[in-house]
Parts: sequence; structure tokens; C-alpha cells
Amino acid sequence: TAYDTILVETRGRVGWITLNRPEALNALNVQLSHDLAAAMTAFDADEGIGAIVLTGSERAFAAGADIKEMEGLHGRDIAVGGRFDAWRAVADVRTPVIAAVAGYALGGGCELAMMCDVILAADTARFGQPEITLGVIPGMGGTQRLVRAVGPYKAAELVLSGRLIAADEAERIGIASRVVPAAELLDEAAALAAGIAEKPLPALYAATAALDAAVETPMAEGLRLEKHLFASLFDTADQKEGMAAFREKRPPRFTHR
Ligand code: HXC
Repeated sequence: TAYDTILVETRGRVGWITLNRPEALNALNVQLSHDLAAAMTAFDADEGIGAIVLTGSERAFAAGADIKEMEGLHGRDIAVGGRFDAWRAVADVRTPVIAAVAGYALGGGCELAMMCDVILAADTARFGQPEITLGVIPGMGGTQRLVRAVGPYKAAELVLSGRLIAADEAERIGIASRVVPAAELLDEAAALAAGIAEKPLPALYAATAALDAAVETPMAEGLRLEKHLFASLFDTADQKEGMAAFREKRPPRFTHR
């Protein structure tokens, strides 16, 4: 499938999605949200895909929601327009998603990165929630995911001031999983994704479900879910294979079943 606003390709078991609106620093318009949701959902339904890399350009992962598209809207357009459904679909992907961020990840761009499981940042990455400067607030999960990622006081400082932070600060406070030199970002993302994608798919799905639950549910419920998911993996072929391979001192041959 060809999309207007993103580039999509498959490399082995890794799905690659590149945001591609260079004229607008990958600003997230409605078309892009639909394209991204469709591409992510298609990869998610494909047993041949074990990880997804989401990236932008050298200059920008994404500079936020498209301000020119939003400017004239009224509250009711946003409230009832279904504008958030596509982002829900993106956030709900169970396949591990690695955001590979270079340059600006601002507003909705920062929020999109935070919908991913891992955030690999180039040393050129700049994160921020500048919505306050525009007279609004984050609307794609920023206030909620940022508080859970970095704690209430760091989150409040960023959301209230709109200050941008560099990659090293993003790593220190817990937005970036890891920072790498910009020239190595895509190779590092590819290596990380390939390493994840060869892991048994049922365990990957269980892991992302359990990790997501940790930020969404009370502890007792999360622990119950984890126990459930852990038990369910003992009915998969890959668990038998993984443990037999260990016992027989050989590499496992997973069937992702
Ligand atoms: C629309 C954008 C855009 C955006 C950049 N562009 N960001 N268009 N929406 N969010 C466009 C510019 O208008 C310009 O096109 C081109 O991209 C290049 O940007 P410049 O501003 O010329 O580049 P530069 O001077 O390098 O500055 C880069 C920047 C700045 C610091 C990232 O573009 C910027 O501040 N952008 C807005 C960041 C922001 O406020 N994001 C939050 C949006 S609100 P033209 O054709 O005009 O030259 C949000 C809400 C999320 O995300 C919730 C939604 C539900």
C-alpha cells in the first residue's frame, strides 16, 4: 500500500515507517494520523513482523500537530470529529515499536514518541510540549504519559513553560531510552529492532501488554495480569522450544507461535 504522508517498508521481520512531510517538519495532520494508524495496524496483524521502527527526518521526528490545519477549528470539531481515534489505534499496537528520534519531537511529536515502547534518540533530538505557547495544552496524551515517564514536577515544568530539552536531558529524566550519535541513529534502531524481532512473538506481545498495564492500572491488577500472561506463555510452542534449546545448549529456533 502506498501512503501520502509516510514511507513504509519491510526489512526481514522489522516494519519501517518514516514520517514524510518534509515541507512541514512532519507536522501531524489528519491524513498522516490515518496513514500511520493504517500502516501500524497492518504490521500489527502480520505474524511476520516482530518489531516496528517509527522515524522521521534528520531535522524533525515531528514538530507537532499541524497548527495550520487546527487553527480554525472549534471545540465541537475536535470533540466529536473522531480526530483521536487514529492515535488510539497507534498507541494500542501490541508489536514493539521503537521511535527513532532525530531533531524536533515537539507537542504531538513528543506525544507520538511517548506512544512507542522504546525511544531511541539521536544526540540532535529535542523534545518538548510547547502547546502552552499556542494557547492550548497537549492533547495526544502528553500530560498523562509525561507525568508517568518523568514524574509530576518535571512534567509540570515542561508543560507549563513549553521549554525544549536536549537529548541528554531527555535521557536523564527518562523520556529517551538511550541516546546515540545522530549518524548512527538508523543503524542502532535497525539493530535494536532486529534483535527484538527475532524474539518469540507471543512473549513480545505478552511483554508489551504487561508493560502497558504498568502505567495504566493499579499495581495489584497489573500483577494479576502479569501472572496470567506469564502462565499463558507456557502453552506456546516457543516457550517449549526456548527452554529445550537452553537445556540442550543450542540456539532456539522460534516459530513465533
Ligand atoms: C504546521 C509546521 C509545524 C506545525 C513546523 N511547520 N511545525 N506547520 N504545524 N506544528 C512548518 C513551518 O510552518 C514551515 O513551513 C516549515 O514547517 C519549517 O518550519 P520553520 O518554522 O520554518 O523551521 P525552524 O525555523 O527551523 O523552526 C522549527 C520549529 C518551529 C522550532 C520546530 O517550526 C516550531 O516552533 N514549530 C511548531 C512547534 C509546536 O508548537 N508544536 C506543537 C503544536 S500543537 P512554512 O511553509 O510556513 O515555511 C500540538 C498539539 C498536539 O502538537 C495535540 C493535538 C490533538
